[in-house]
Amino acid sequence: MEREIIRTEDGSTTIHIKEWNENYHSKHGAIQEAKHVFIKNGLALFENKSVSILEIGFGTGLNAFITFIESKRMNQSIKYTGVEAFPITKEELQAMNYVDELEANEFQSVFDSMHAGEWGEINEMDSAFSLTKRQQRFEQIDDIEQFDLIYFDAFGYRVQPELWSTDIFQRMYNSLKKEGTLVTYAARGVVKRSMIEVGFKVEKLAGPPGKREMFRATKNIQNNPNANVF
Ligand SMILES: C[S@@+](CC[C@H](N)C(=O)[O-])C[C@H]1O[C@@H](n2cnc3c(N)ncnc32)[C@H](O)[C@@H]1O
Repeated sequence: MEREIIRTEDGSTTIHIKEWNENYHSKHGAIQEAKHVFIKNGLALFENKSVSILEIGFGTGLNAFITFIESKRMNQSIKYTGVEAFPITKEELQAMNYVDELEANEFQSVFDSMHAGEWGEINEMDSAFSLTKRQQRFEQIDDIEQFDLIYFDAFGYRVQPELWSTDIFQRMYNSLKKEGTLVTYAARGVVKRSMIEVGFKVEKLAGPPGKREMFRATKNIQNNPNANVF
């Protein structure tokens, strides 16, 4: 599918898929969205802790990079796994302006290493942050109780409804440790119903700029007799 680079309203870049009229990030601000949905409402729950994170859709690496930066401020040790079936191209990567927009020149080499690192291997960014990129389809994720936090950042329900199904959320539920948390920018009723069906407890939170609401789902093992069953 044809893709082009666009600038979002906070100045940060993203990738636009023409056929679907869908972006990798919110047009209202890629960085703002990542900070609000995944950091403020996700990572910040784990201050001063070791956190194992699963990202659904590694894409441009923006969420991973912001997580690296913020984890230093919150004194966290991070094991980050990014799943992605269709990695972006070198040209697309070069067009992303995240290091500049985040005023993170001191971490330019980290952003570069995140992308240069081999797929399927553990890449140490420093002594407190490891990144494993897995080239894999979301439909094949079968980890059991590995993660404290999931960043669920698939394309929207409008274009990929199959990725917001009970099959996928059951996989997410199974992959979380007890009391683990999933955050996503989405706030549709149909998504909430799928999450609840597999046993998640779902909260509606204020969304990032340009979006009224978003969901945070918590694993709630007592509610789900089928937990860990595919
Ligand atoms: C909204 S974008 C992710 C943006 C990313 N988190 C970032 O910060 O740039 C969704 C991602 O899901 C990937 N994707 C779409 N369908 C997939 C599938 N079935 N399995 C794995 N990855 C998929 C796309 O290639 C895309 O990178």
